[in-house]
Amino acid sequence: MKHLKYLGIIAACIFLYSCSKSEESDEISFSSDIAGFLENSCTACHYGGRQSPDLREQYAYNALIDGEYVLPGNSADSPLVQQLESGHPSAGHLTQSQIDQVKLWIDQGAVNN
Ligand code: HEC
Repeated sequence: MKHLKYLGIIAACIFLYSCSKSEESDEISFSSDIAGFLENSCTACHYGGRQSPDLREQYAYNALIDGEYVLPGNSADSPLVQQLESGHPSAGHLTQSQIDQVKLWIDQGAVNN
């Protein structure tokens, strides 16, 4: 019986560990996963006073939400995603995995995290 008790504790540890792990890897963070590549790929054109939305790192979140380029929870209808999926910009287009991260982030509620 003693062994069973240990087994239970070990199982509980593995379970808790895997839960915390998967949350970490599945949740997209705007500031650490997305803002950086928008700044790199888009701000040659998208910055204050030039082309909307302003995609500089410190302004991008508000510009995307306030300008309704991002509709939280609805990546399919978000103008940002429609632009990216139709190949905008023609030079320096994001990779498919970057576009997928943007979509996932929007579908997770587009929080400023
Ligand atoms: C070479 C300059 C250039 C780059 C780089 C660029 N854009 Fe654009 N973008 C434009 C121009 C010009 C427009 C407006 C005309 C059009 O829709 O093509 C525009 C329009 C948009 C729009 C729609 C704006 C509206 O009012 O409907 C979004 C969203 C957008 N860009 C996102 C991005 C993102 C995200 C990136 C980086 C991956 C990016 N753009 C890179 C020039 C650029």
